[in-house]
Amino acid sequence: MDFNLPEELQLIQQTARDFADRELAPLARRLDREERFHKEHWAKLAGLGFLGFLIPEKYGGAGLGNLALVIALEELNRACASTGVTVSVHNSLAGGPVVKFGSEGQKARYLPKLASGEIFGAYALTEPGHGSDAAALETRAVLKGDRYVLNGRKAWITSGAMAGLVIAFATVDPSKRSKGITAFLVEPSFPGFKVGRHEKKLGIRGSETVELVFEDLEVPGVNRLGEEGGGFAIAMDSLNGGRIGIAAQAIGIAQACLDASVRYARERRQFGRPIAHFQPVQWKIAGMAAGLELARTLAHKAAWLRDQGQPHTREAAIAKLHASELANRAATDAVQIHGGAGYCTDFPVERYFRDAKVTEIYEGTSEIQRLVIARGVLGDLP
Ligand code: CAA
Repeated sequence: MDFNLPEELQLIQQTARDFADRELAPLARRLDREERFHKEHWAKLAGLGFLGFLIPEKYGGAGLGNLALVIALEELNRACASTGVTVSVHNSLAGGPVVKFGSEGQKARYLPKLASGEIFGAYALTEPGHGSDAAALETRAVLKGDRYVLNGRKAWITSGAMAGLVIAFATVDPSKRSKGITAFLVEPSFPGFKVGRHEKKLGIRGSETVELVFEDLEVPGVNRLGEEGGGFAIAMDSLNGGRIGIAAQAIGIAQACLDASVRYARERRQFGRPIAHFQPVQWKIAGMAAGLELARTLAHKAAWLRDQGQPHTREAAIAKLHASELANRAATDAVQIHGGAGYCTDFPVERYFRDAKVTEIYEGTSEIQRLVIARGVLGDLP
């Protein structure tokens, strides 16, 4: 067993780190304040191959896989979690399912545009009334001739208004619960596609989060992804990948908290010496460092298993659960180490504190991750 990253992955890590330091870090604060995504970054990310990690080279992607994606996401999120989640959703929840479940025609139509950054990808599963209980979603899909007509509302959709492709889930038969759910490749130009309200958020304010409204939305039959009733399996498989991406996001935020805390603790003097001399500060820093070591190992293992095509539902849930709880602890401790300065916007830790929270919520709350882990451990109950 070799715990060193192979040369190719080290190169991706360094490239992502340089890009994050040079392009993302200087703008992250402003984008958070202005609550807008910086589209100029998108073309540059595409140029680095970061928008097509899972897309084969044949379709213009980098074809590097989930472990490479995780390693890049850790670095991007260290500088800007808003850019991080936009890249994560684009790769794992939009490109990923088309690669895995798409027809040849669907791949040829969408993958090159996703990889080149010509379009943003989004994923629309959640509804105002159905978040954790995704199998109970209410958006209806009715086949009429050669097209499906969708009616319903989708909530908290990352990049939903910017997207050129939305992986949308609707049910063809609610009585079948998860077995009625069907996936569709939706373009914003399809009649009946509407963008609802833009959410005002606690954190990741530089990413776009909107409601989508489907009013007699017409989706050509050829844009059904997979089989009728096969959508829930697609949704869950995609989320297994997405959850590893959110683990990487949380790792990036926790690393940023550690870096900022180390810097500040060495500089800030109280009682005649730098506060890094004091044990309460040291313990907080040690907790972040120890947590990060574990979080990286878990996330890399889950991504590696996914790349190998081996079962990884439980590992993805464990990686996300651990990393997201670490990010929140690290952010709380980083603000505490900074004291009054950490509570103000001159230092980035207040942003990390706000950004960290959502990692315990989206792509499955911590409670859902525990449920997934417990079901995996307990198996079928008598
Ligand atoms: N991987 C693979 N298969 C899975 C799975 C997973 N993670 N979770 C469930 N399944 C399978 C089950 O094995 C089962 O398969 P069979 O029917 O073949 O046996 C099927 O799906 C139904 O599962 P359950 O019987 O367990 O269904 P349930 O309704 O009791 O529970 C759940 C399912 C685990 C609670 C699921 O609904 C879930 O994960 N909920 C959370 C939803 C979520 O994560 N939403 C995030 C929104 S996306 C987002 O945030 C994106 C963004 O923009 C950032």
